[in-house]
Amino acid sequence: MKIITSISDMQRAADELRQAGKRIGIVPTMGYLHDGHLSLIRIAKEKSDVVIVTIFVNPTQFAPDEDYSKYPRDLDRDSELVRSAGADIIFTPSNDEMYGGKYRTYVNVEEITAVLEGKFRPAHFRGVTTVVAKLFNITKPHVAVFGQKDAQQAVVVRRMVKDLNFDCEIFVGPIVRETDGLAMSSRNVYLSEDERRQSMVLNRSLHLAFDLIANGERQCEILKKEMMKMIASRPSAVIDYVSIADPEKLEELTKLTPGATVLISLAVRIGSTSLIDNLQVTV
Ligand code: PAJ
Repeated sequence: MKIITSISDMQRAADELRQAGKRIGIVPTMGYLHDGHLSLIRIAKEKSDVVIVTIFVNPTQFAPDEDYSKYPRDLDRDSELVRSAGADIIFTPSNDEMYGGKYRTYVNVEEITAVLEGKFRPAHFRGVTTVVAKLFNITKPHVAVFGQKDAQQAVVVRRMVKDLNFDCEIFVGPIVRETDGLAMSSRNVYLSEDERRQSMVLNRSLHLAFDLIANGERQCEILKKEMMKMIASRPSAVIDYVSIADPEKLEELTKLTPGATVLISLAVRIGSTSLIDNLQVTV
């Protein structure tokens, strides 16, 4: 497995792979890898000949008051995990390599970035789409794999790929969870033991909504109210949003229609740690 840090070296390697007829798959990450990331590497391996894992804690997607500087980083540990998952290349550039000089260009997907996460983190998706576009131009992938854990991110990236005609196929892998149901996240290391127990409420509230829907509840306000009541019963939980929306347009729904698939998503702060989770349900 190779570790590449320079953009020109990565572009040259990608050109050589393409000239040799290889199909390139990439898994963009911010590192501190867990089984969720590794599951995406496995999908990328199925869909391509050579897998590149990008590891870059992207400053442009963090607001000034967010956890950019304390975001966990451990390249040695990540390299071992990437190697054992069978990927071929890690691309891990410095900040200066990605945004050095007089950096002035951003990619902005409109409307679908203004809701949910985007409402609470206004510049977040601009940073995500900018870095993903750059990573696509640097690694020249045929295939890129993202996780359903960040459901809105996957929708936004698909939109960007379509709108800007990136010649790259997008796959979205399912959410990988801890045994108690907590969605795996690099940020879970921030949680104290007590917060870790309380954080199970995110997944539990999704299951509560699922059960209520299975029992015939169709009013989104009632479903969201029941979820919020459950979450609010945890002393350290502060709700940013609970949403029931169309999974593509991300527009809030008022009533569930039979046969429709909906995206139930939420963001909750447990102490100072922001957690997100979601569930797609076909009514
Ligand atoms: P990061 O949070 O490191 O996540 C990298 C990829 O792993 C994303 O596609 C995310 O949805 C996926 N992922 C995270 N937790 C997962 C889980 N429990 N199960 C399945 N997949 C999971 O998302 C980012 O980085 C960044 O925004 C990035 C796209 C790299 C741009 O900087």
